[in-house]
Amino acid sequence: MPETIFITGASSGIGRAVALEMAGRGYGLALAARRVDALEELQEEIRTRDIAVPVATRALDVTAYDRVFEVFGELADESGGIDIAFANAGIALGERVGRGEFARARQSVAVNLLGAMATIDAAAAYFLDKGGGHVVGVSSVAALRGMPKSSSYCASKAGIAVYLEALRAEALRKNIHVTVLYPGYIDTPLNNMLPNRPFLISVEKGSQIIADLIEKKAKSAFVPCWPWALMGRLLKILPTRVIARM
Ligand SMILES: NC(=O)c1ccc[n+]([C@@H]2O[C@H](COP(=O)([O-])OP(=O)(O)OC[C@H]3O[C@@H](n4cnc5c(N)ncnc54)[C@H](OP(=O)(O)O)[C@@H]3O)[C@@H](O)[C@H]2O)c1
Repeated sequence: MPETIFITGASSGIGRAVALEMAGRGYGLALAARRVDALEELQEEIRTRDIAVPVATRALDVTAYDRVFEVFGELADESGGIDIAFANAGIALGERVGRGEFARARQSVAVNLLGAMATIDAAAAYFLDKGGGHVVGVSSVAALRGMPKSSSYCASKAGIAVYLEALRAEALRKNIHVTVLYPGYIDTPLNNMLPNRPFLISVEKGSQIIADLIEKKAKSAFVPCWPWALMGRLLKILPTRVIARM
């Protein structure tokens, strides 16, 4: 029986590419997103690549928090168990503080923070009961410094990183591994409208790095490590007047 990875936001970008990469490495897939047609198209692509792993799918909006728990349970039953949970679904709306754009900020937090927390909570409950498992969450280099016009995105990504660290401490000696990913720019529909994407890598490269980190059960890592490990340190100390121009 192969190990199975549960992935939210598997219909696009990083989630989709990680699903393909993990399937290629022999993992079974339990996939969720709102766009079921895109999940079915991914299932078809896996078949046409002659990858023979079990794939289960469910429609899921991670802001339907109660439904997250139900879907996790349904996919665990259908897949014969889940070993890795990848809380990946996310949005990047962008907004300014104090300009009547609070609805966008609230939606970012609803998806990126509360939706991911619901996913992680469902996974943790399941892994505690099962006696072990691996929780992987997507933060961002944006978690390291509040950036203009990305306030709620930065806050949601800082929040989920800290939440995962807390889980790691709570789950110590419970055989639950926790991985926090800090991607830089990975080429996906989330950011492909931006004029400037420093140190951009392809989604295929990004998914290979992420799959390696998952298999290593890394505690936390930048994606890619170079140059973001250095840029991350720099981001923390840059003067506000420099950050304000970004
Ligand atoms: N790309 C980057 O450079 C980068 C950098 C740092 C962090 N990240 C993080 O990586 C994650 C994936 O982003 P991406 O770049 O792959 O973006 P993407 O291509 O836009 O994919 C986002 C995924 O999230 C899903 N999603 C959005 N809202 C959802 C909701 N309410 N319920 C369930 N699923 C939802 C989407 O599926 P549906 O629309 O079908 O629901 C989609 O599959 C995000 O958390 C993002 O913040 C990305």
